Amino acid sequence: MAVGIFDSGLGGLTVLDAVTKRLPDLPLIYLGDNAHTPYGTREPDDIYNLTTAGVQTLFDRGCDLVILACNTASAAALRRMQEGWVPEGKRVLGVFVPLIEALTERQWGDNSPPREVEVRDVALFATPATVSSRAFQRELAFRAIGVDVEAQPCGGVVDAIEEGDMILAEALVRSHVDALKRRMPNPQAAILGCTHYPLVEKEFRAALGDDVAVYSQPSLVADSLADYLERHSDKIGTGQAAFLTTGDPKSVEAKATLFLRRKISFDAVD
Ligand code: DGL
Repeated sequence: MAVGIFDSGLGGLTVLDAVTKRLPDLPLIYLGDNAHTPYGTREPDDIYNLTTAGVQTLFDRGCDLVILACNTASAAALRRMQEGWVPEGKRVLGVFVPLIEALTERQWGDNSPPREVEVRDVALFATPATVSSRAFQRELAFRAIGVDVEAQPCGGVVDAIEEGDMILAEALVRSHVDALKRRMPNPQAAILGCTHYPLVEKEFRAALGDDVAVYSQPSLVADSLADYLERHSDKIGTGQAAFLTTGDPKSVEAKATLFLRRKISFDAVD
């Protein structure tokens, strides 16, 4: 029995970690497409093809439910997958909606018309592909009115994290926050809209300052998954827990072990 968690690389481990803390008995199969990371600089068709291939691997391992723990895949591929690709009896969920529900103070499944919310000026940090998809703004517009979103494409941050170069990743975070603040000097809230970014969350918080409320996905996604499984316990599937990568398992497990601060062993998939 297992739920699948998919990301382009290591970022989805931040979601896996939060899910493990929230639901310690839930078996998980993690798949990182490290051979093709980053997704954030790819075209939507390319992201769609890579994401469907990864999710298919998780379905083949017995998962009935897969969490796309990747904003780029959620932004560029999820809707298209849900409209025409996901097989009967299987389910794929993204990571945007729990975040937007938290920002707009909505309960799960509240489909009432968009309304005014507390927050006005929101900074969105995400990959170039997520920013250019405008998927975040689209989902927000279904739920809230009068929110001004300033989006910063954070080129280079995912590559640096995947390379294990945290000094570069942290320097890039500071320069992306500076760039955003030149356009929106006083955001009330900041969205870390990439699952890799919790690994540099401290840098984001320091560069943004104490007055900015930072919304980070892992625990929001974990709470929303717990809620979903309470209503759909049949979606736990039949697979065996595992950590899989399309990349080099040794190099991936060394970085994963460092990030999660516990020993993790990865197996290769094609
Ligand atoms: N963790 C993915 C996301 O949330 C990373 C994207 C990438 O591969 O560029 O967007």
